[in-house]
Amino acid sequence: MKLKELAPRLGAHVVAGPEIEVTRVVYDSRRAQSGDLFVGIPGAKIDGAEFASQAVERGAAAVAAERALAVPDHVGMLLVPSARRALGESASALLGNPSERMRVVGVTGTDGKTTTARLTAGVLGASGRRVGWLTTVDMAIADVIFPNPFERTTPEASDLQEALANLVGGAVEDVVVEVSSHALALERVAGCAFDAAVFTNLAPEHLDFHGTMEAYAETKARLFASLDSPTAKRWSRMGVVNADDPASVTMVASSPAGIVSYAVDAPADVRAEKIRLGPDSTSFNLVTPIGEVSVWTPLRGRHNVYNFLAAAAVGLGWGVGLEAIAQAAEAASLPPGRLQRVDRGQPFEVIVDFAHTPQALGATLATLRDWTSGRLYLVFGMAGRRDARNRPLMGRVAAQGADFFFISLDDPIDEDPVQIAREVGAGAQAAGAIEGTGYAVQLDRRIAIQSALKLARPGDTVVLAGKGHEARMLIGDRSEPWSDLGVVTELLAQLGYSS
Ligand SMILES: Nc1ncnc2c1ncn2[C@@H]1O[C@H](COP(=O)(O)OP(=O)(O)O)[C@@H](O)[C@H]1O
Ligand SMILES: [Mg+2]
Repeated sequence: MKLKELAPRLGAHVVAGPEIEVTRVVYDSRRAQSGDLFVGIPGAKIDGAEFASQAVERGAAAVAAERALAVPDHVGMLLVPSARRALGESASALLGNPSERMRVVGVTGTDGKTTTARLTAGVLGASGRRVGWLTTVDMAIADVIFPNPFERTTPEASDLQEALANLVGGAVEDVVVEVSSHALALERVAGCAFDAAVFTNLAPEHLDFHGTMEAYAETKARLFASLDSPTAKRWSRMGVVNADDPASVTMVASSPAGIVSYAVDAPADVRAEKIRLGPDSTSFNLVTPIGEVSVWTPLRGRHNVYNFLAAAAVGLGWGVGLEAIAQAAEAASLPPGRLQRVDRGQPFEVIVDFAHTPQALGATLATLRDWTSGRLYLVFGMAGRRDARNRPLMGRVAAQGADFFFISLDDPIDEDPVQIAREVGAGAQAAGAIEGTGYAVQLDRRIAIQSALKLARPGDTVVLAGKGHEARMLIGDRSEPWSDLGVVTELLAQLGYSS
């Protein structure tokens, strides 16, 4: 595509080389090749525009940045109002606008995004559509599932566009994209035309990044606001919100599209009534504007009723019938590392879960408490470089929900794990827990897990929270292999449980 054709889509000014052709867009100068458009993204520490000359040396045909850069005669230059937006929008344009060729659902919120994305794909798939998803954990093209190849929940804008193009290549008709608040703040979904925006819930998280809860809610609401972007798609657009969460008001206020609400307690379009939470399954009556259906699902936990309601609401908004929705519930499964049972024949429950926020941990502990006749043991830690304000809150939730817990290691990065554990412990103590009788600090996560297993008796539950599906531990500037599932399986074998 010629720069002069691309420029209007980015709101860009062509400083040099209007006739120059570009075929691909890159943001990492080391990956630049001939024919590429290099976009210089201003970062927290370094300004990508400074690497433009390196990209040009490597053959880039043109560069884009938020300030005019001097370029050699044969190289084009675009001055763009937002380099981040330009990255997504130019990638979309050069890849043939993949998001215009599918129905696209975005899922945002503090907790339950990955689960809700997967369940939504399940509901749309049950109506006969060819579906895909893109989440923290994995990417699916119909029944082929790959691990998420990117380091973060939502990839960089151009990577996201490439993933969407792959989905189009796989003939996917409906894709569900997990959209983190970082992704919205950093414009990683620029160039992606959403047809539905789904909101799960909002609780304090990433406030170190977003500042206040209001700013955080506003960031999430950008997904809803984006429903007025121009599109040639003919689907009716919708916003789907959790009416039991007060922050839904912000989403509704930002949404130019019609709203479908879901709830358990508040009045809403889609509701679950007569919920029966069992240790192995859940059932409820799904009450909708087109009638009621009784739903049985192997999913466990009240929070997953919410996640399924969100998925059902998307389906209902697009005309999926009640029978297909009930079928999707029956066939549903959680993503790996969410309330995942580890059963090696031991006489107690072992669960790996991804809860790493206070409300997620609260939801998981409440669910496990219901199934546990004996004692509930917990191992968890808090990550460095994020959400320091949540540390004492996690300590409090642990003290309230578990009978005994180990404060351990979870991605400290360059923070002092001893200090992190102290902050968590302070919250636990404020809630009445006493070190030694109510909890212990054991920063070696393997030893913490081993100690919990040794305490467990028949009827007890041991839950390992916070790492879920993850396969690494971030310590200092290193990334070490780590898997709660792998380690606990090994430790159970040492105790003689390996069936
Ligand atoms: N709707 C919900 N409300 C509160 N907690 C939830 C909800 N859904 C899931 N959780 C908790 O959050 C953890 C992560 O779930 P996940 O679906 O991966 O969410 P996310 O992608 O938003 O991190 C789960 O292991 C569970 O403990
Ligand atoms: Mg996720």
